[in-house]
Amino acid sequence: MPVSFAAMAPSMAACAIPLYLSLLVVSFLALHQASPSYASDTISPGRSLSGHQNITSAGGQFVLGFFTPTASSKNYYVGIWYNKISLLTAVWVANRETPVTDPSTSELRISDDGNLVLLDRSKGIIWSTGTAIPSNSTVAVILDDGNLQLRDAANSSQVFWQSFDHPCDTWLPGATLGLNKLTNQSQTLTAWRNKADPAPGIFSLEIDPNGTSQYYILWKMSRIYWTSGVWNDHIFNLVPEMNQNYIYDFQFVNSSTEMHFRYTVKNDSITSRQQCLVYALCGPFGSCNDVVKPFCKCIEGFRVKNQTEWDLGDQSGGCERKTPLHCGRNSSGNSETDAFLPLSNMRPPDNSQILATLGSDEDCESACLNNCSCTAYSYNATGCFVWYGALLNLQDQYGTDGSTLHLRLAASELQSSKSKKGVGTWIIVGVVVVVIIVACLAILLWRRRSRRMMRKSKAVGGSMVPFTYRELRHATKNFSHKLGGGGFGSVFEGSLPDSTVIAVKKLEGLYQGEKQFRTEVSTIGTIQHVNLVRLLGFCSEGSRKLLVYEFMPKGSLDTQLFRSNSTALDWKTRYQIAVGTARGLAYLHEQCRDCIIHCDIKPENILLDASFVPKVADFGLAKLVGRDFSRVLTTMRGTRGYLAPEWITGVAITAKADVYSYGMMLLEIVSGRRNSEQTEDGIAAYFPKLVATMLVADDVESLLDPRLGGDANLEEVERACKLACWCIQDGESCRPTMGQVVQVLEGFLDATMPPIPRSILLAETPEEIKFFSELSSEQSSQTSSCPRTQSTKSNSSGV
Ligand SMILES: *[C@@H]1O[C@H](CO)[C@@H](O)[C@H](O)[C@H]1NC(C)=O
Ligand SMILES: *[C@@H]1O[C@H](CO)[C@@H](O)[C@H](O)[C@H]1NC(C)=O
Ligand SMILES: *[C@@H]1O[C@H](CO)[C@@H](O)[C@H](O)[C@H]1NC(C)=O
Ligand SMILES: *[C@@H]1O[C@H](CO)[C@@H](O)[C@H](O)[C@H]1NC(C)=O
Ligand SMILES: *[C@@H]1O[C@H](CO)[C@@H](O)[C@H](O)[C@H]1NC(C)=O
Ligand SMILES: *[C@@H]1O[C@H](CO)[C@@H](O)[C@H](O)[C@H]1NC(C)=O
Ligand SMILES: *[C@@H]1O[C@H](CO)[C@@H](O)[C@H](O)[C@H]1NC(C)=O
Ligand SMILES: *[C@@H]1O[C@H](CO)[C@@H](O)[C@H](O)[C@H]1NC(C)=O
Ligand SMILES: *[C@@H]1O[C@H](CO)[C@@H](O)[C@H](O)[C@H]1NC(C)=O
Ligand SMILES: *[C@@H]1O[C@H](CO)[C@@H](O)[C@H](O)[C@H]1NC(C)=O
Ligand SMILES: *[C@@H]1O[C@H](CO)[C@@H](O)[C@H](O)[C@H]1NC(C)=O
Repeated sequence: MPVSFAAMAPSMAACAIPLYLSLLVVSFLALHQASPSYASDTISPGRSLSGHQNITSAGGQFVLGFFTPTASSKNYYVGIWYNKISLLTAVWVANRETPVTDPSTSELRISDDGNLVLLDRSKGIIWSTGTAIPSNSTVAVILDDGNLQLRDAANSSQVFWQSFDHPCDTWLPGATLGLNKLTNQSQTLTAWRNKADPAPGIFSLEIDPNGTSQYYILWKMSRIYWTSGVWNDHIFNLVPEMNQNYIYDFQFVNSSTEMHFRYTVKNDSITSRQQCLVYALCGPFGSCNDVVKPFCKCIEGFRVKNQTEWDLGDQSGGCERKTPLHCGRNSSGNSETDAFLPLSNMRPPDNSQILATLGSDEDCESACLNNCSCTAYSYNATGCFVWYGALLNLQDQYGTDGSTLHLRLAASELQSSKSKKGVGTWIIVGVVVVVIIVACLAILLWRRRSRRMMRKSKAVGGSMVPFTYRELRHATKNFSHKLGGGGFGSVFEGSLPDSTVIAVKKLEGLYQGEKQFRTEVSTIGTIQHVNLVRLLGFCSEGSRKLLVYEFMPKGSLDTQLFRSNSTALDWKTRYQIAVGTARGLAYLHEQCRDCIIHCDIKPENILLDASFVPKVADFGLAKLVGRDFSRVLTTMRGTRGYLAPEWITGVAITAKADVYSYGMMLLEIVSGRRNSEQTEDGIAAYFPKLVATMLVADDVESLLDPRLGGDANLEEVERACKLACWCIQDGESCRPTMGQVVQVLEGFLDATMPPIPRSILLAETPEEIKFFSELSSEQSSQTSSCPRTQSTKSNSSGV
């Protein structure tokens, strides 16, 4: 069957982008349905490709043939591209670095040794699949998933080579991208050099050759400048956007010979590519847009720096100012200055600097204006953000997060972009001025109102909000309803105008400057977990520092646990509280960017929401009050009875101090009693007895809160008690981590029999001390001084 010559698409000029990572996926192209069927998808010994001939996959999805990357290019490549995208979009190129100049004299054919080869005019081999083939008759077939297979002519399951194993710049659904453990070779995606040249460029993507389940983007095959984070069974850790992904299914395979990912598109009728997440894709002062083509454009007041490169698809050179900034020019006497153009809907670059001390939009603006290298500012609830130098990674049509980027331009540029036409007469000018003044007043009034309204509603829906002292005084009815007082200050109930109930904490004993306070408050504000109390806002006016939290209707755990007139919490709820609290702490210790040690874990700081879900309160405050933990100690931030021994011995405090306090609290949750009690002659501790009873008599029931009347899951009670005892070990290295605590409580790890912590033997009668220390030394001679904390279920020795 004769193959007609295909006309190259005229719109091809805007085809490839520097790096495709289908992994990161943003823009989608709906494909046209159904296409005419093509006669052949196969290159066989008797049928080669030349000139503009092509083969098309059976379902009409992909085409293999010769193409030029741009309409004006004289270089021809053999490649695979989408059949249904009118813009030629190549997914794979055979001869990336060795183009041919005349396709009609070149030939893609099966060679005598069975390989697929590309021959030039003089029949020299330009490119070959280059593999050893144990068969004397092979064919090359283009499949509907975009894979080109070289296989046995008689037996299609004997595949000798496939393009999926040699990806170029595109990762197609169904293809694997991974590591061959036998050779330590990882498959690599490499971006095109530019739109006209598919030769390997400077960016590449590969799985970690060291064997972790994360991807890197490398610059010139050396410098890592992006990592996906490790795979956690449903997303890559550092690509949280994947949580919103309902289009891709990722599958991870880790065998003795290979480790790879493969992904599938859940809906066949969409094809995807990503653009704007590529670092600095559109260069300085270029903005990227995932939705509308072209992806890159210059922001207002700027023009393309190198049109040649830009048109070839390499926009990384970016844009330059049409009019230079006034600042820095020698034009004394000239009244012209720079001004700011607000760009809403624009995602700002990441590399901002926060000037936390500036409390208003105007201050923020003038701070930026006064520094010649400041190119933009943005003022929002968190504070004043300024950007110096080139703006990278701007993203257009991003949707607004409430903040507007103010771009610095020469004032003349701003005027020309604003007033397109001159105004006729002075009368009109006068009328316009009046109208503008009225409008400004109206807008000002309206904005003041709506800002106030917005803040309040944002407090409920979104990010952290600054309040004025007056607003909070009003919300709490002049601080009339006190909920409690903790180490950091008193807490009052209040309600916002939209009747959201809040808890307002008046901080005491702060040593911090305004800037540091705001920085740390905004850090705390970003820490969100279902088992942590959420910080909604703050107030900082001079020495008045207040924090606004969500309100917890069931109050703190101590009131539920110890108050005699309250109904006893049932065991299921108690266990749920223990697990939830542990999860919250594990998050603080292990999952936040900076490890946060709470320093004051006790039932008073565990709050309960309407359905008794526990939320840890007051975290991060120890840091607010002072990074120096000795100060925390001297002001006795921690609470006696929950303080780990290292607080007293003066060694450095680690997260294990929280584990100790948690252990004490866990015993209280089980027993429904305080771990120690003030008596006339000092502090009496219950726990030595409890622990001893458990260890000696193996009688966990006696530890249980008598109010439960034995109605509890005894296996859980025992697990909790043993775990608690591990948590309160004297040596912090013997205590489990909060992560392990969660695993034990959830039953994934077993707790072995713990030794008796020495410190709890204090404050008892001499006979008891003797008895317990003997028991304890017996134990430690049996095991090592710091025995295994836990063992996994499989090799558990149990009790
Ligand atoms: C492939 O060749 C067929 C004729 O065999 C032609 O109709 C079609 O346009 C070509 N497709 C492309 C993408 O060049
Ligand atoms: C292929 O090789 C086998 C032996 O390896 C031979 O029997 C067969 O005739 C060959 N077929 C062709 C088409 O050359
Ligand atoms: C085709 O090749 C596969 C894999 O090498 C083999 O398992 C199968 O037996 C072959 N089938 C035939 C009909 O030769
Ligand atoms: C691959 O790397 C691993 C660990 O880095 C090493 O143990 C192994 O010997 C390497 N194998 C080869 C074939 O280089
Ligand atoms: C792999 O591990 C080696 C040695 O630990 C380290 O030098 C190298 O940077 C690692 N490579 C990557 C890509 O992480
Ligand atoms: C892959 O499996 C090996 C054992 O087969 C294991 O050591 C390694 O940690 C696993 N890698 C990942 C990333 O899960
Ligand atoms: C797949 O996508 C098409 C077009 O976007 C849509 O009409 C269809 O409902 C989708 N199918 C499924 C199963 O989501
Ligand atoms: C634009 O870039 C091309 C290719 O890098 C270069 O040859 C040319 O000189 C540049 N033009 C200008 C005006 O810088
Ligand atoms: C700017 O003007 C001052 C005096 O007006 C002069 O001394 C200085 O050299 C000028 N600087 C530049 C860079 O032209
Ligand atoms: C402007 O800001 C930059 C970056 O913070 C700083 O290095 C420079 O000293 C500032 N210049 C002036 C005049 O303040
Ligand atoms: C304020 O803007 C900065 C910089 O764009 C951003 O990181 C921060 O999340 C914004 N805060 C709020 C509350 O919108």
